[in-house]
Amino acid sequence: MLADIGSDIERAKNHLIANEIIGLPTETVYGLAGNGLKAEVVAKIFAIKNRPFFDPLILHIGDYSQLTSLATEVPKPLNDLVKAFWPGPLTILIPKRDIIPDIVTSGLPRVAVRMPDHPLTLALLTSIPFPLAAPSANPFGYISPTTPDHVVKQLGVKIPFVLDGGRCQIGIESTIVGMELDDLVIYRLGGLSLENIRSVYKGNIKMNVSSSHPESPGMILSHYAPKKPLYLGDKETLLSLGQHKKAAVLCFKERWSEMDTKNQWVLSESGDYEESAHRLFSFLREMDEADISHILAEKLPDEGLGIAINDRLYRASQK
Ligand code: TXA
Ligand code: MG
Repeated sequence: MLADIGSDIERAKNHLIANEIIGLPTETVYGLAGNGLKAEVVAKIFAIKNRPFFDPLILHIGDYSQLTSLATEVPKPLNDLVKAFWPGPLTILIPKRDIIPDIVTSGLPRVAVRMPDHPLTLALLTSIPFPLAAPSANPFGYISPTTPDHVVKQLGVKIPFVLDGGRCQIGIESTIVGMELDDLVIYRLGGLSLENIRSVYKGNIKMNVSSSHPESPGMILSHYAPKKPLYLGDKETLLSLGQHKKAAVLCFKERWSEMDTKNQWVLSESGDYEESAHRLFSFLREMDEADISHILAEKLPDEGLGIAINDRLYRASQK
């Protein structure tokens, strides 16, 4: 049996109250959601995703008042960011209270929390008495899903239901931040850009986003990977790798005249970063399924969401 896809919030709620796991839309990517305060429910999420227990989960809330029941304190810089960008693609790391099972945070002292900006999911979250633990709804290490079909294709036999919220508006995961002493640390750059954060937070910012150490959760290097080899670089470098009949190109805004136009996917003809992020994971899935041998991905300019997109492509290029 494959999961049903539907927009019935009542049904979603009933599954969750029965301690089941469902697919859930957010503005970033689809989540694989269950009661985040029950260890045995959270364990099911890890099993379905085939995710190692050292990689902790984000709790999703629908109301600000839930923050104080989950965290012992919210540092002021994080609270300022929350006020500016929630609901939205921002996840904060805050010291956890004991009601959160250790499996959620992989035993770490901080918990990741966010309020997603999706009307169906917000309505669902405010109708249940617990936060939802929800990683992206893909098998561990693969590309995050941005449509209900993506979820059903890969995890449909393991869950009963995917709440249909359409195609995700942003298309890449949330930005994760926390405080270390007086610095704001960015652990994952995602749908909220560095420029957005700087517009509110005027202090020192540290980046701590790339590592292959499992002890540093959230930063596993080989991630977001299609099954086909992916090479990231500028056009000249990629062309110099030598041309292959079945090579495909993921272009930023212009097709490459040097290559067969058939196997080219253009992220945004107008060079728009939001549009590029919105299409990125769908295109990578299409390319993974197409009759091509490998993917040449053109690096975007390092500004706005271009930085987060380059980060996903870089990780996809690491095997
Ligand atoms: O946009 C998103 O954030 C999506 C949607 C569904 O909300 N969720 C998502 O979850 O991308 P996931 O589990 O695929 O990625 C969350 C990352 C993980 O890599 C995890 O290691 C990191 O957040 N993380 C979660 N809790 C953490 C913690 N307590 N300390 C450090 N990193 C944490
Ligand atoms: Mg993920």
